[in-house]
Amino acid sequence: MTAGSARRAPGSGAERGAGRDAAGYGTYALDGLPARVAVHEVGPRDGLQNEATIVPVEVKAEFVARLARAGLTRIETTSFVHPKWVPQLADAAELLDLLEPAPGVRYPVLVPNERGLDRALERGVTEIAIFGSATETFARRNLNQGMESQFDMFAPVVERALDHGLRVRAYLSMCFGDPWEGAVPVEQVVRAGVRLLGLGCFELSLGDTIGVATPGHVAALLDGFAAAGVGPERLAVHFHDTYGQALANTFAALTKGITVVDASAGGLGGCPYAESATGNLATEDLVWMLDGLGVETGVDLTSLVETSVWLAGRLGRPSASRVVQALGPR
Ligand code: HMG
Ligand code: MG
Repeated sequence: MTAGSARRAPGSGAERGAGRDAAGYGTYALDGLPARVAVHEVGPRDGLQNEATIVPVEVKAEFVARLARAGLTRIETTSFVHPKWVPQLADAAELLDLLEPAPGVRYPVLVPNERGLDRALERGVTEIAIFGSATETFARRNLNQGMESQFDMFAPVVERALDHGLRVRAYLSMCFGDPWEGAVPVEQVVRAGVRLLGLGCFELSLGDTIGVATPGHVAALLDGFAAAGVGPERLAVHFHDTYGQALANTFAALTKGITVVDASAGGLGGCPYAESATGNLATEDLVWMLDGLGVETGVDLTSLVETSVWLAGRLGRPSASRVVQALGPR
């Protein structure tokens, strides 16, 4: 084994075939799960926004290219936010200029306001995501807006983006708990989420920003949205793994019909404006579970692990993903 390369998962690559999972330990389907899940990869954005050091833009571009080669088709690359608020992503325009178009791969970016939209349009983006808060405190800390005024900030962004033919996703943060306000009632989250979707967003990603959700809470929130007329086809889930619940929460969401799951290669991540937030659900851990369940993702696990091992070398610390630790070089 050469340093920096990942051990090949048995049964992956050439050995991968009918009835075999990527890990080589068999596929065991469970009733009630979707046949296919779209992984929304947030490593370059949610992951790298929280790095202590600023990652060189060429490394970011290589990271994105490797993710695309591993089969990820939705790769959230960066944010057009104020560079003083998130200096780690101040090179957003430069990064987009370095990205190679890849067939079937989308490169959404975060945009909070019209200034951010202008910057994104200058770079020719085709998909953006606005990001709202389910709580007053986080709206102020993350966006410098109140619960109400955040919608006034987003409305012209979505309207103009749609006029330009862009796809607009919405995030909602603090859906399961807030470090300053504590428990967040399901009805409060549903009300805020319905308003974001009502602006014209095609999808709403429900964020457990600080990782406090548990599976029953996930089911209750999805039931709350269903009761408000928002089915799982309009929703995605976005779990952080602070308390080790991200995969269990994802599984609960899948049983409720969710087919879009946010994850971050190597478990990178966090939010600079929510101190207790740690990394996202690791994409490798998600793909391992889905491969074992026979749920299609289109992601090649070996190639993804190699990518996270390579990035860990650049960041100078090991990946948080259990699967990367298990399959990576020892
Ligand atoms: P503000 O300071 O209130 O901005 O920040 P402002 O509108 O008062 O403008 C002040 C100056 O900033 C002006 O410049 C603007 O032009 C400039 P001046 O006239 O003084 O020279 N400005 C900008 N410059 C570049 N790009 C922009 C921009 N906007 C204004 N977009 C703002 C308001 C929203 C910009 C700020 O609060 C911000 O950037 N917040 C982003 C915080 C962030 O990125 N957080 C992490 C992402 S959210 C997350 O991680 C959660 C998620 O993963 C889901 C989950 O886990 O829950 C999505
Ligand atoms: Mg996040």
